[in-house]
Amino acid sequence: MIKKCLFPVAGYGTRFLPATKSMPKEMLPIVNKPLVQYGVEESLEAGLTEVGFVTGRGKRAIADHFDVNYELESEIKGSSKEQYLSSIREVMEKGKFSFTRQTEMRGLGDAILNGKRLIGDDPFGVVLSDDLCLTGDDEGVLAQMVRLYNQFRCSIVAIQEVPDDQVSKFGIIAGEKMKEGLYQVSDMVEKPDIADAPSNLAIIGRYILTPDIFDVLENTPPGKNGEVQLTDALLTQAQNGCVMAYKFKGQRFDCGSVEGFVDATNYVYNNVYKPV
Ligand code: G1P
Repeated sequence: MIKKCLFPVAGYGTRFLPATKSMPKEMLPIVNKPLVQYGVEESLEAGLTEVGFVTGRGKRAIADHFDVNYELESEIKGSSKEQYLSSIREVMEKGKFSFTRQTEMRGLGDAILNGKRLIGDDPFGVVLSDDLCLTGDDEGVLAQMVRLYNQFRCSIVAIQEVPDDQVSKFGIIAGEKMKEGLYQVSDMVEKPDIADAPSNLAIIGRYILTPDIFDVLENTPPGKNGEVQLTDALLTQAQNGCVMAYKFKGQRFDCGSVEGFVDATNYVYNNVYKPV
């Protein structure tokens, strides 16, 4: 059973400056809920209740968000305003939260490696909270992937087809199609030029990783942009064993970009948000 999920949240959020100068980008609200809470709710829904964050400087607001605010609680206790806290209270009841820091920004692979002390020797999920994945009334993307993990027992990446001009923004996979929406990975390249891309199947920020990924990451040299790339470590896993790529059911918004963030806000306001 997978119980753990890792959230790398140390990134600077430069595309949202000045909003993110003293506030973590993960705390930017999509309507009335911070981005990171959507990811944590998806994790809890998938049964991954031990939630670990790899944080960095200036990210304390994330830890505070998943902790009790006694002053606020006592101030609004018994009033109608309490209902505004219901979603975060539910999250805090279900989840167990722990935190560690990434002291140097050496890439996603390095962030995951820093999470080893929270994860130990168990398979685990990874959520990049910039990628907001919405599935309506269907099960969330992580829950879909946990079901696949229980079947295949290997690392799994979520993928989505992207247009040619987007390919250089993602990890791109190639693989053998096992059935509709499911591939066994044979190649993976981090942010390739379109000329070098093996396909237009892009990795989205949801992963299930087997714990041997930590040993692989320790031996993975810096790759694209001089950073330790999770994509490179996953390619090693694919070559030595098996990695599956899953075209998930649902919608994804790139909330790391202003356009994606605005699209997500409009979508959530019109289709998901329920005023309390
Ligand atoms: C990371 C990964 C990339 C993946 C992307 C999904 O890149 O390195 O392989 O496609 O997340 O959002 P980032 O966007 O953090 O640069």
